[in-house]
Amino acid sequence: MTSPEPANANASDAAAAKEPTQLRVLSGIQPTGRFHWGNYFGAIRQYIDLQHAGDAYYFIADLHALTTVREPEVLRSFVREAALDLVALGLDPKRATLFVQSDVPEVTELTWLLLTVTPMGLLERCHAYKEKKAKGLPADAGLFTYPVLMAADILAYDANTVPVGDDQVQHVEVCRDLAGTFNHLYGEVFTLPKARVIETAARVPGTDGQKMSKSYDNTIQVFEEPGKLKKKVMRITTDSRPMEAPKDPETDHLFELYRLMASAEETAAMAETYRRGGFGYGEIKKALHAAAEQFFAEARTRREALAADPATIDGILEEGAARAREQATRVLDRARAACGLSRGRGDR
Ligand code: TYM
Repeated sequence: MTSPEPANANASDAAAAKEPTQLRVLSGIQPTGRFHWGNYFGAIRQYIDLQHAGDAYYFIADLHALTTVREPEVLRSFVREAALDLVALGLDPKRATLFVQSDVPEVTELTWLLLTVTPMGLLERCHAYKEKKAKGLPADAGLFTYPVLMAADILAYDANTVPVGDDQVQHVEVCRDLAGTFNHLYGEVFTLPKARVIETAARVPGTDGQKMSKSYDNTIQVFEEPGKLKKKVMRITTDSRPMEAPKDPETDHLFELYRLMASAEETAAMAETYRRGGFGYGEIKKALHAAAEQFFAEARTRREALAADPATIDGILEEGAARAREQATRVLDRARAACGLSRGRGDR
C-alpha cells in the first residue's frame, strides 16, 4: 500500500532536483466543499509529487469559488479546511508555495489584460458555461469569463506545467491560446503552459460510475467521517451480472477505485479475482473500504494535529501569499509595459 507522504520531508533533495528540470508548476483547487477522491488522485497527488521536481505554486481558488459559494462564512471555512487538507496530505510549504488566490490581486489585473485579447467564441465553447446554458440555468459573467481568470492564474507565475484532471485540460488550452495571442501582439511576455494529466486518474469515477464531482452528488471525501465512508463505499453501484461470471476488471469502476489505493500486488490479485469470477461485489467493496481507510490514515492523524494549531496554517498562507505576489508582480509589470501601460507600481 502507498499512502500520502508526510509534510516537511528533507528540503535538500528538492534543491538538487530543481536544477536540471526547470519545472515551474502551478495549480489551483476550488474551496467549494471538502476535497474528494477525484481531487486527490487527479490533482493533489500530482501537486505533492511535483513539489520535489521544481518550483511549485499551489493555491486555493476562492475567486473562482465565488461563482458558486455565496455565503461568506461558508467560503471562509472552506478555504481553511482546504489549506488544512492540502498540508495534511503532504503539501510541504517549505518546498512549495501555498496561498489563497485572492491574496494576489495582481492576478485580477492580469485577467483584464487577457480579457482584452479573448474572443467571445472561445469562451462560448468552454464546457462549464456551455453545460450550464444547455441546462437552461442562468450564467453570470463570472462563470463565462472563468477560464480567463484561470489563464491569469497560470501565466502570473510563468508556469510551464499545470497538474490537473481531465476536466481542466480545455482551460489550460484556452490559457495557451490567450498567451499566444498576447505574445503575438506584444512580444514574448508569457510562458506557454502544458496540462499534466495522470492517465490512470484523469477522470476518477464517483459512486455511480460517472466522473466523481460535487455537481453529480457522487463523491467520497478524502477525510470522510469513518461511518459515512463505509456507507458510501457499500453503496457504490455495481452491475447485475451473475456472481459466477468472470468479469473484466478494466471496465469496472469499483476496480478502478481500488487500483488507486492498493499496491501493485494487491491490484494484480484483485484483477485475477475478477477474471476468475465467482465473487460477490460486497467482498470487493470491503477490500476497497479497508484500502481507503489505510491509505488516508496517516494524513488523517496529521490533519487532526494541524487543526489544533490554527496559527501554523495562517503563517503558511501568509508567507505563501508574499512569495506568490512577488512573482506575480514581476509578470504583471512585464505585461503592463509590453502593452503600453505604465510599467508598474514603482513607475507610476
Ligand atoms: P476543481 O476545484 O474543480 O478541481 C480541482 C482539481 O481536481 C481535479 N478533479 C478530478 N480529477 C480526476 N477525476 C475527477 N473526478 C476529478 N474531479 C476534480 C480537477 O481536474 C482539478 O485539477 N478551474 C479549476 C481550479 C483552478 C485552476 C487554476 C487549476 C483555478 N485556477 C489554474 C489549474 C490552474 C477547478 O475548478 O478545479
